[in-house]
Amino acid sequence: MARITAGVACSHVPAIGVAMDTGITEQPYWKPLFDGFIKSREWMKANKPDVIFLVYNDHCTAFDASCIPTFALGCAAEFQPADEGWGPRPVPVVKGHQKLASHIAQSVILDEFDLTIMNEMEVDHGLTVPLSVMFGEHGTDDEWPCLVIPLAVNVVQYPAPTGRRCYNLGKAIRRAIDSYPEDLNVMIFGTGGMSHQLQAERAGLINPEWDNRFLDYMANDPEAAASITHLEYLRETGSEGIEMVMWLVMRGALDEKVTEVHRHYHVPASNTAVGHIILENHA
Ligand code: DHB
Ligand code: FE
Repeated sequence: MARITAGVACSHVPAIGVAMDTGITEQPYWKPLFDGFIKSREWMKANKPDVIFLVYNDHCTAFDASCIPTFALGCAAEFQPADEGWGPRPVPVVKGHQKLASHIAQSVILDEFDLTIMNEMEVDHGLTVPLSVMFGEHGTDDEWPCLVIPLAVNVVQYPAPTGRRCYNLGKAIRRAIDSYPEDLNVMIFGTGGMSHQLQAERAGLINPEWDNRFLDYMANDPEAAASITHLEYLRETGSEGIEMVMWLVMRGALDEKVTEVHRHYHVPASNTAVGHIILENHA
């Protein structure tokens, strides 16, 4: 049987990808950030996923105002890294797991979560940066070390889904993966966040106290995290902090009680508070 062994939450700041792509991760500005992922990369090597189910948001790359799916599941054989204005990132093409993705679509839609099926989709920094930080130098080989199923969540244009909706979708994804007959080690990533605001009067807003409480909730009290309202995300974590609802999809797919393996919190990375946590399922 396929099983979800662990969940990973991780920010996706584009400048982190640029730092890796241009080889400046040892510079004083970046070193403390990347040092927090040394243990994560060792853990990835030791735990080798077959598939990563990666929950991220598209930043007006594959979608724009003409089409705004709330939840879009990547069912294609592969996903090209997108050109976000400076050419595509020099990272491998992302290979999907079409059979498992189709099974998840079938299971989750019949479980009453209406997903948009994407048979063609380019992926932006929201997806490639978390892979880069977690795989490190392995992400610069010809291929990523595992297959990836992308789930794009709309957090760019209101109404975004609630945290509760995302949490419950995570539970449906868990049921789908649990019912897939092939033996697969599946990890689920929730990406984006933490507190950040890129625009207008409060640009640069960071809220470490709130972020750290949210990391505690991820580890020990997912129900409390699922109850956080849009208004609270906006007020406490800035206009882009809403990306954290995607962590709740990840958390919903895990056991209620999990083991926290690693945590890292660092400010600043560009305009964003970088948060990262690794949670293992008990079984
Ligand atoms: C930044 C953060 C993001 O989440 C994003 O999508 C784009 C930019 C930033 O801090 O620069
Ligand atoms: Fe973002």
